[in-house]
Amino acid sequence: MKRLDNKVALITGGSSGIGLATAQDFIREGAQVIITGRSQQALQAALASLEGQARTLVSDSANREHLNALGQKVRALTPSLDILFVNAGIGRFAPIEQVDEAHFDEQFSVNVKGLFFTVQQLLPLMNPGGSIILNASVVHEMGIPNASVYSATKAAVVSLARTLAAELLPRKIRVNAISPGLTHTNFFTNTNLTEAQVEGFAAQMLPKIPMQRLGNSSEIAKAVTFLASDESSYLVGGELKVDGGMTNM
Ligand SMILES: NC(=O)c1ccc[n+]([C@@H]2O[C@H](COP(=O)([O-])OP(=O)(O)OC[C@H]3O[C@@H](n4cnc5c(N)ncnc54)[C@H](OP(=O)(O)O)[C@@H]3O)[C@@H](O)[C@H]2O)c1
Repeated sequence: MKRLDNKVALITGGSSGIGLATAQDFIREGAQVIITGRSQQALQAALASLEGQARTLVSDSANREHLNALGQKVRALTPSLDILFVNAGIGRFAPIEQVDEAHFDEQFSVNVKGLFFTVQQLLPLMNPGGSIILNASVVHEMGIPNASVYSATKAAVVSLARTLAAELLPRKIRVNAISPGLTHTNFFTNTNLTEAQVEGFAAQMLPKIPMQRLGNSSEIAKAVTFLASDESSYLVGGELKVDGGMTNM
């Protein structure tokens, strides 16, 4: 018996990085998985790399029409869900003087608004005994210069995990947040930073990580699988930090 046998999971932003690694781990543990993302091409490439029961859905978490249609589109693929990993997220970095409204709105619309309405849309499909995992980040407790808006979005995500956990517990749905530390993915390639700026940032952060290395997406995925499975049955409204000790030591 595998840990996620007979479970159906949806992962937003499942075409790369932490979302894709989690899809792989969920499948390995017996789940059927639906992955979303904005690019059909990226989703097809991800699907080709996944072995097992996986399906794709093009959906932009920042697009209100896509969000409104999400419940109906998912219902066309499955009558219900047991696991929802709201993972899609973006990062933009700049000193406060250079932050304009677009920089602010873009991040809040994907990382907070999109996450919130994804949960709202898919809640009617969630089975009792289900698990919702929200992808936050340890940045919200660190005070990293130039990361003001991104970090604030992630503080909001941790807050939502607590509040929604309290609201949904009577329906027997557990909500928790996962907070990765610096992790090898395409995340930084997709920011507004140049390659040199990313390297500079990594060099600046490395001494702060007791394990002296970045995490791998598979290491985050394993923690998400724990939160998705019944092994974490007494964990609710929590934040699981997987950061090589960066914020604990
Ligand atoms: N990597 C890190 O160091 C780190 C640390 C802490 C937290 N996180 C969080 O982990 C999550 C996943 O990031 P990652 O590191 O795995 O980065 P990634 O490799 O860039 O993956 C991001 C995923 O989200 C999707 N996505 C982006 N914008 C979207 C949108 N508007 N609607 C739907 N899907 C969207 C991307 O696909 P498309 O672009 O094709 O849509 C991709 O599948 C994010 O929430 C991030 O904040 C990452």
